[in-house]
Amino acid sequence: MSQRLYWLGNAAKSRIIAEILALSPGPEPVTVFDYGCGDAGDWPQILADHPHLRLVGYEPYTPSCRRARERLIGHEAEMLSGQDIATLNIEADYIVSFSVFEHVVQRAVFLQHAKRILAPDGLFYLNYDDGHFRNLLEVSRPVTWLPALRAWGRTVLSGPSAALGRQSHYQHRVMAEDADLLVTEAGFSIERVDYHNLICLKELAKAMPKDLQQAFVQWWLDAEQVLNERFRAELVVSLYGDHTNLWRQMLSRTLSLRHHSPNLSD
Ligand SMILES: C[S@@+](CC[C@H](N)C(=O)[O-])C[C@H]1O[C@@H](n2cnc3c(N)ncnc32)[C@H](O)[C@@H]1O
Repeated sequence: MSQRLYWLGNAAKSRIIAEILALSPGPEPVTVFDYGCGDAGDWPQILADHPHLRLVGYEPYTPSCRRARERLIGHEAEMLSGQDIATLNIEADYIVSFSVFEHVVQRAVFLQHAKRILAPDGLFYLNYDDGHFRNLLEVSRPVTWLPALRAWGRTVLSGPSAALGRQSHYQHRVMAEDADLLVTEAGFSIERVDYHNLICLKELAKAMPKDLQQAFVQWWLDAEQVLNERFRAELVVSLYGDHTNLWRQMLSRTLSLRHHSPNLSD
């Protein structure tokens, strides 16, 4: 296998990082902005393996930001939080945002910041997922009941809770048409859309022994690429907020965005 893969439990993130490394293998320095980076996930390992990458992370939830800062000590990385986003003045070659958009209260504002931060030739991977909203409860497995009910309750309560100022637990399904319209209105053009994380393969990844994980994820990425390229169709009936057939079993959608550059025919 050529390139080491990261985020082995999530094909969407794994694919985006692999693509960035393929497009920008170094040694020229590259700035990646991770918008809503949580505790920084696999970044410590990625930065250790690829010293040409510089990470700027933004995480509004203070405990996660603090944890990310600790985990990134010694790496080419900077962590921001709170109002930093409003004044951040960088030109990011890449923006990644993994599983964040469904938690964002003011989605248009979120996109305006990304628009300002992205370099003129930059690429913005806007990924969101639907796992929180598919509360699958198996009647024969009581162990699934509580998590499913809890996730449903969290979604129901998160709107009123956000209205009262507690935004960190907000979650609301992203409808594909809304996302596409919002990014267009923010001044991006959609270069590509991919679906990832086929439910059964994501589950299987959790049961993969360590020595098989890299090979398994490479196969998983290849398989999902084929699904996206050859077996994707738009259905008449929209389900879970999306007309695309793959969305029914692949819960993660990624928009690859660039600045919209109007041409003469626009
Ligand atoms: C499900 S977590 C994903 C974290 C990380 N990207 C990952 O993949 O592990 C969602 C994150 O979105 C962050 N978030 C919510 N609203 C945000 C906003 N307006 N701007 C940036 N991040 C936000 C939350 O604080 C949380 O860390």
